[in-house]
Amino acid sequence: MKTIVILAHPNIEQSLVSKSWVNALKEQHADVTIHNIYETYPDWNIDVAAEQKLVGAHDRIIFQFPVQWLNMTPLMKKWFDEVLSYGWAYGPDGDKLVGKEIGAAVSAGSPEEAYQVGGKNLFPLSQLLSPIEATVNFVNAKYHSFHAFYGVFSDDLENRLKINTQEYLKYVTQ
Ligand SMILES: Cc1cc2nc3c(=O)[nH]c(=O)nc-3n(C[C@H](O)[C@H](O)[C@H](O)COP(=O)(O)O)c2cc1C
Repeated sequence: MKTIVILAHPNIEQSLVSKSWVNALKEQHADVTIHNIYETYPDWNIDVAAEQKLVGAHDRIIFQFPVQWLNMTPLMKKWFDEVLSYGWAYGPDGDKLVGKEIGAAVSAGSPEEAYQVGGKNLFPLSQLLSPIEATVNFVNAKYHSFHAFYGVFSDDLENRLKINTQEYLKYVTQ
């Protein structure tokens, strides 16, 4: 199975979570493709044909981004809008994602307690990520669920991130 992580972090240099995840992948699973779209497209001018070719060459696609305003990052959304085009992802001959495994790896500043019914963010991440899950269903791909790291600003970050990074590696590769 060929796997690609489509990374949409606006500032990977200053990242703690995504950087830890990506570094671990590079060290332990060099066969996984890591594609940083903020680095590839600093002008946000996405090469749709190149993206479609890249995605087409992989069986599992993981969208990775920090949660921003309870959503995906804006270049990630632009990527969805442009790359999942009519006649490619849906519509006539739009079968290029059929059967692929697609999931999301996200980091969140808020602690996990905030992401529940009645919590500060009102909804669990499973619900906030439902547009991705429903899109995966729409294009007849398989939802690979999601992996999350919560509470970037709380205590014990280093230890929690170390454990979480091992879980992330399993999520991406197994
Ligand atoms: C513009 C902006 C909006 C954000 N909105 C949220 C949010 O809605 N919920 C949340 O939990 N964290 C939010 N955060 C915090 C980021 O999710 C957090 O800093 C990031 O996931 C940390 O991962 P990193 O170390 O890879 O950068 C926001 C951060 C920024 C810059």
